[in-house]
Amino acid sequence: MADTEIKKGLAGVVVDYTAVSKVNAETNSLLYRGYPVQELAATCNFEEVAYLLWNCELPSQDQLAEFSSRERAGRALDPALKTIIDALPVQAHPMDVCRTAASVLGARHPLAEDSSPEANMTKAIDLWAAMPAVVAYDQRRRRGQDIVEPREDLGYSANFLWMTFGEDPVDEVVQAFDVSMILYAEHSFNASTFTARVVTSTLSDLHSAVTAAIGALKGPLHGGANEAVMHTFNEIGIRSEESMEEAAARARTWMEDALRQKKKVMGFGHRVYKNGDSRVPTMKEALDKMIAHYRRPELQGLYNGLEQAMDQAKDIKPNLDYPAGPTYHLMGFDTPTFTPIFVASRITGWTAHIIEQAAANSLIRPLSAYNGHEQRSL
Ligand code: COA
Repeated sequence: MADTEIKKGLAGVVVDYTAVSKVNAETNSLLYRGYPVQELAATCNFEEVAYLLWNCELPSQDQLAEFSSRERAGRALDPALKTIIDALPVQAHPMDVCRTAASVLGARHPLAEDSSPEANMTKAIDLWAAMPAVVAYDQRRRRGQDIVEPREDLGYSANFLWMTFGEDPVDEVVQAFDVSMILYAEHSFNASTFTARVVTSTLSDLHSAVTAAIGALKGPLHGGANEAVMHTFNEIGIRSEESMEEAAARARTWMEDALRQKKKVMGFGHRVYKNGDSRVPTMKEALDKMIAHYRRPELQGLYNGLEQAMDQAKDIKPNLDYPAGPTYHLMGFDTPTFTPIFVASRITGWTAHIIEQAAANSLIRPLSAYNGHEQRSL
C-alpha cells in the first residue's frame, strides 16, 4: 500500500456531478441553479429560492402562490412530535432536538416507505415547512415559554421569527433573517450534504438522509461554527458601553493571543474558498443593518478587530458563520439555536441533493488502505 495516495478528508476529490449549485473558489462565486446567490438574496425571498433549488427554475407568481400555501399549511408543530420534544431534557442541545424531530417526522410520514421522486418532493416540502416550529418551540421551552402557533399571513422568515419570539416581526429584521436563510440554503458537496448523499446512495429514505446530515452539521468544523463565533465574542466579553474602537482593540489582542497558542478560531477559513467566502459580503451587509438597527457598535468593533488580526497574522478570511452568528444574537436567538436555524435553511439544499442522488444513483463506497497488523493466527 506504500504507493497508494490517500486523499485525507477527500480534499480535492471530485466524486460526482451536481446541477444544484456551483462553488467557484477562483472567482469567489456561488451559483444556485445558475443564479449568483448575491442576486438571489437581493431580489428573491427564501420561498422563491427553495422553489428554485427543487425545481431548477424560479416560480411564476401562480406557482409561488401554490407553493407558499403548501408551506403555510404545514407549519404547525405535530402534537405527537411536541410530546416527544417535551420528553427531551431542556439541556439537550437544540441540534439533538432537530435531529430527533427529523427522525420522528420521517417515521410518522404517510409516505415513509415511498422514495419515488414525487414522494421525496412531498417529504422535502413537508420537512422544510415543519422545521421552524421545532426550532422556535425548542428555544421557547428552554426559556420556560409556551408554544406560539404559526401565522398564515406571514412569509417563511417572518413566521419563523413570530413563532420564536411571539412578537410582530420588524420588516428590517425579517429581511436580514431571510438573507441568511438564502445564503445558508445550499453549498454543493459540503460534509453534511455529502453525508445525505451517502445515506441516499444505499436506497435509504429522505428523512434518514436528513437526520444523518443534521448530525454532520452539528460539528464546529461545519455548521456549529456559527455558535462557536458567539462563544468567542462572549469569551472576549461583550460590553455594551464600549466604543467600536475599544472593542476592536480588545478583540485584536484576543486574536493575537489565540493564534500564538495555535488555536483554531471558528468562523474563519474554508476548505474550498481560500480567498474569502463568496457569501460573506452579503451577510456582512445584513449584520451591519442589524448592528445599526439595534444600535450595538461594540459588536462591530469585536467583528472588525478579530477579522483584521486574523487577516494580518495568517491571511485567513471569515466564512459565512462569522457574520451570521452575531446577526442571530442581535435578533435575540439563544446561541445554541443558531445551527438549528441553519438546518431549517439547508433542508432545501440537502433534499435537492437527495433527489439528485436518487435520480442517478451509485452506491457511495470508497476504499481504504489497511495499515493494521499483518495477518496473524490466534
Ligand atoms: N483558525 C486558525 N487557523 C486556521 C483556521 C482557523 N479558523 N482555519 C485554518 N487555519 C490554519 C490551520 O491551522 C492550518 O495552518 P498550518 O498549515 O499552519 O497548520 C491551515 O490554516 C490550513 O488549515 P486546515 O484546517 O488544514 O484547512 P482545511 O481546508 O482542512 O480547513 C476548515 C477548513 C473550515 C475546517 C478550517 O478552516 C477550520 O477549522 N475553520 C474553523 C471552523 C469553521 O469556521 N468552520 C465553518 C466552515 S464554513
